[in-house]
Amino acid sequence: MRYRIVPWLACLLCAAFAAQAQQADPHLVYERKCGTCHAAHAGDFVWEALTETGDGLAGRVSGRPVRDMLLRGHGGLTAPEIDSLLEQFARIRQSGQLFRRKCVICHDSAVQLARRELALDGDRLVGRYTGRDIAAFLIGHGRLDRSEVTDMIAILRRALDTRAPAE
Ligand code: HEC
Ligand code: HEC
Repeated sequence: MRYRIVPWLACLLCAAFAAQAQQADPHLVYERKCGTCHAAHAGDFVWEALTETGDGLAGRVSGRPVRDMLLRGHGGLTAPEIDSLLEQFARIRQSGQLFRRKCVICHDSAVQLARRELALDGDRLVGRYTGRDIAAFLIGHGRLDRSEVTDMIAILRRALDTRAPAE
């Protein structure tokens, strides 16, 4: 009889790990726990609803630090989820400057562009349908200088690394 318990236990552990891994993905955290009431995409939320203060990001309307709000329970996040979300917000501020300035007129968001049109070929970022080497492609596209191309490749890779939500 006892051996029957083993698969069940393995199953439970698996589910627990899967749930944890999912929660650690900040895109999913935002989409599931914030996007239902706020902007659908974290990028829009960060740019529209938040503002940079000496004390980190704060609500544009209330001026309250986002970290304080989340720690008090707004959105119902765990402490690791709060850290991961705030890191993502900070990255969006940094990298979004570049994407907003130079790409957003023609592409919705870095995450959508990466998920829809890009793929990894070994270590290289390539066009999913065109097979292009994106690092080479970007040199003549979107008016980036060379160091910005390097930054943009990092931004797109990161966007691609995070798993797309189950649809
Ligand atoms: C059930 C709906 C709901 C959910 C879920 C939710 N919020 Fe809110 N949030 C509100 C409401 C309502 C306000 C206050 C009114 C407003 O500013 O729009 C607010 C305000 C805020 C503010 C302050 C805005 C300002 O200018 O002062 C921040 C920051 C914020 N939410 C972040 C988040 C984050 C991050 C999450 C996800 C972890 C989240 N919220 C989840 C409803 C929600
Ligand atoms: C003036 C409009 C415009 C701007 C600005 C622009 N793009 Fe594009 N981009 C396009 C069009 C149109 C295509 C599709 C045509 C093509 O593949 O040549 C494209 C394709 C791409 C592709 C997909 C290549 C492939 O092979 O699948 C990537 C990646 C890309 N753009 C990144 C960027 C980045 C990053 C920026 C900002 C630095 C940017 N684009 C700015 C219009 C633009």
